[in-house]
Amino acid sequence: MGMLESGLRRAKRRLQDGWMSRKLDPIARQVQERRLTYLPTAKLLSLTNQIDRLNRDGVAGDFYEFGIALGGSSIIMASKMDANRTEERRYHGFDVFGTIPPPSAQDENDSHDRYAVIAAGKSQGIGGDDYYGYVDDLYGRVVRSFEDFGLSVDGDRISLHKGLFEDTLSLPPDARIALAHIDCDWYEPVKFCLERIADHMAEQGVIVVDDFNDYQGCRKATCAFLENDPRFLLEAERPHALLIRRAETGR
Ligand SMILES: C[S@@+](CC[C@H](N)C(=O)[O-])C[C@H]1O[C@@H](n2cnc3c(N)ncnc32)[C@H](O)[C@@H]1O
Repeated sequence: MGMLESGLRRAKRRLQDGWMSRKLDPIARQVQERRLTYLPTAKLLSLTNQIDRLNRDGVAGDFYEFGIALGGSSIIMASKMDANRTEERRYHGFDVFGTIPPPSAQDENDSHDRYAVIAAGKSQGIGGDDYYGYVDDLYGRVVRSFEDFGLSVDGDRISLHKGLFEDTLSLPPDARIALAHIDCDWYEPVKFCLERIADHMAEQGVIVVDDFNDYQGCRKATCAFLENDPRFLLEAERPHALLIRRAETGR
């Protein structure tokens, strides 16, 4: 693709994004303006639509998120989780709060090339900010961002679990999840999260897989999961994958 053409495409995408951002609710717009999320407007709109649906339809269960970075999508999920509801939800967020762990042999060049830039200390942050993976005390910074939005990370209603998902995720047998946002880029963590949460998903609950169209390893893990677990329906592929837990037929 020529430089002029790719520049035009980028400009068109920015225009479309700016136009769509008028549809965002106030919290999501503030998160975007403060450059706290990597999610483009279309993904923010889809995520908030899913939260509104779960609240409106009374789908019970907590919100889980794998991949927090600066905390943008987390703040949106935690802010909106109890809108118009009597039954309280809890938010659980998981992240290393440091540099992202490397991809594996199951990932393709797209992931390995991206990781090489990060590992070389050459990654740029959102809008030219410092890249979150190089920030000292990222955990403390995310907690302060939650507080800026009036949210207390109290370890009860809102919990942030620091470390590898593989070490920090423990689900009691009765855990019920209405929404899981899986935003951790590579094959292995996506596979791990999907397989660990599957039995805990509420009927009509949703798993949002952020990187389905962004990294081939993520898509491969998601497609393999869907092939093996017929309880889940791939309801949408764009702007991210929406995996809906089907209702039991009562056979
Ligand atoms: C793309 S960022 C999340 C973006 C965020 N949801 C937002 O709104 O901008 C991915 C995050 O997942 C984390 N991550 C990836 N694999 C992980 C693992 N195995 N354990 C813990 N954290 C992991 C990375 O460190 C990074 O912070």
